[in-house]
Amino acid sequence: MIRRPAGLVRSRAARGLAWGLVILAVILVGAFFARQGSPSAAAGISPQEATATTPQASGVSAIRFTAGGDVGTTSASDASWQKVADFGGDFHLLLGDLSYSDIEPEDAWCADVISKVGAGVPIQLVSGNHEDDGSDDGHINNFAACLPDRMNSTGIYAAEYYFDVGTEARVIMIAPDLTIDGEDYDYEVGNPHYDWLAAAIDGARAAGVEWIVVGMHKTCITAGNKSCEIGPDLMDLLIDRRVDLVLQGHDHDYQRSKQLTCAEVDVFVASCVADDGADDAYAKGRGTVFVIAGNFGGSGFTGIDRSDPEFAYMAAAMGDGDDPSGRGLLQIEIDSGGLRLEFVGSTTDYSDGFVIGPSATAGTANCSAVPARGVPSEVRAPAAISRGYLKANQRIGSATVRRANGIDRWLNAGILDGDLCGGSLEPADLDSNVTVTSGPLGPTPPRANPRTVAIAPASQRNAAFSATAIQMCINQRIYQTGIARANALKARLAGRLTGGDVVDGTLTRGRLGRDVTITAASAPPSLPAASRTKVTAPARQGCGKVKFTGAQAAVNRRIAIASVVRINETLDQLSAGLTGENFKDGTITKVDFAPGVTP
Ligand SMILES: [Fe+2]
Repeated sequence: MIRRPAGLVRSRAARGLAWGLVILAVILVGAFFARQGSPSAAAGISPQEATATTPQASGVSAIRFTAGGDVGTTSASDASWQKVADFGGDFHLLLGDLSYSDIEPEDAWCADVISKVGAGVPIQLVSGNHEDDGSDDGHINNFAACLPDRMNSTGIYAAEYYFDVGTEARVIMIAPDLTIDGEDYDYEVGNPHYDWLAAAIDGARAAGVEWIVVGMHKTCITAGNKSCEIGPDLMDLLIDRRVDLVLQGHDHDYQRSKQLTCAEVDVFVASCVADDGADDAYAKGRGTVFVIAGNFGGSGFTGIDRSDPEFAYMAAAMGDGDDPSGRGLLQIEIDSGGLRLEFVGSTTDYSDGFVIGPSATAGTANCSAVPARGVPSEVRAPAAISRGYLKANQRIGSATVRRANGIDRWLNAGILDGDLCGGSLEPADLDSNVTVTSGPLGPTPPRANPRTVAIAPASQRNAAFSATAIQMCINQRIYQTGIARANALKARLAGRLTGGDVVDGTLTRGRLGRDVTITAASAPPSLPAASRTKVTAPARQGCGKVKFTGAQAAVNRRIAIASVVRINETLDQLSAGLTGENFKDGTITKVDFAPGVTP
């Protein structure tokens, strides 16, 4: 069993508590309306992560490499080696299980591989269970002699080592649950191997290395035919340290996990999933993605057990019996746009791929950080209703109305390029007369830089205000109006915006998804209409039924606060930047794009 980090549970409980406070709160109006906290804290980005993105901006060239395990010498592995040669990456990670004695001895197998790949691509080894101590298929030391380390690695090559590629990536290779030269490579809390790995990960973070990839032969969470052989302590360490990507073999199939913050053997825990990966995009730093690719070509081809509870941890899987299915390998690119992984079939048309985005923002969209707002404190009922208490209630309620009106004006004025997060428009958002291709990642998209929402100042004309039941009734109608408008704006922003809301000729290339290129475009026969804020008029009841009590005044205040919280959420959404999610699918047309973006 793999332990679930207690922090996950705690943070959820804390969030629930915070919301409870919102509902039960008294406010000092001014303090509540102000924003507090630093932008980086609000966005969940540590200072270290923030600075670690700096090398990307300097235009460091991409890292390109391939990976795969369970190789042998077969027509399928020959086809996979051809893909490795064609890709011509900076190195290839061989994830264990090498010759299966298809060619003996070890140096003859190495020579065969080199003859297929060429000498230009370093092949970095780690042992599988077919070449550790006592295996009949050769010994890892003999393979390491003929396919030696070529990446200037630190540690024990082919058993427990790492190498850096600039400050962009650290690749760590380990051989858990295997015995090499009499040494048991077990990773248990507090033992030397565990400590070595923790130090290798922490050292990379401390040095500002952007990406951490850990490769090994054996697996833990899998819907193939293997079990958690690497052990829960290692699995927890990889996840708790937020290793970006873990590559494994051993299961002779292909599996790509969801992005995980925890995992439990034989039990699917939904709250462990930070991102289900259904859109093939993960945000960096939210969790760990595991990829099993033990189907390079050697030995038998195995199937996926979709009734295995651990299958629910997977975002994609392919094995024997699936259609299409077959052998292949991983192609991985890391650049300023993130980490992009593709499974490329050598004997199958099956394909899969994903991006781990470059920053801790949603997907690959580059949104602005929004500072956290203060949380209002507890609401207490007044001993007696005072003019001041009712007046404060009215001010809170009218703040919602003024904010809602400001947002409505903001939307109706026409959406500009900077109002959208960079990289946020996906093919589904585009009109069918716009044709796109998905290709290599473009440069890091620009951040959203939204227009300010102009909010009218509070009216100071309240000389006639008095503490009466009628005034309380008027206040209640103000809250109702505010809530109705806040709800209407939320609905409009929940996928009802259209290209008709966008000022023509404004959207730049940077708003498109980073892998999206427009290849052809024409204006549709009719352009989509702009959206409207559709307010449902609140039901009115007579003022004669209003309870003129302190308890009712406190209830009113809670309602007023809740309405401000609701409208503030929408304000924060606009401050972060709009994304394709705010738009109705298929409504961004050629006319919305700036000259030159479309052919
Ligand atoms: Fe194997």
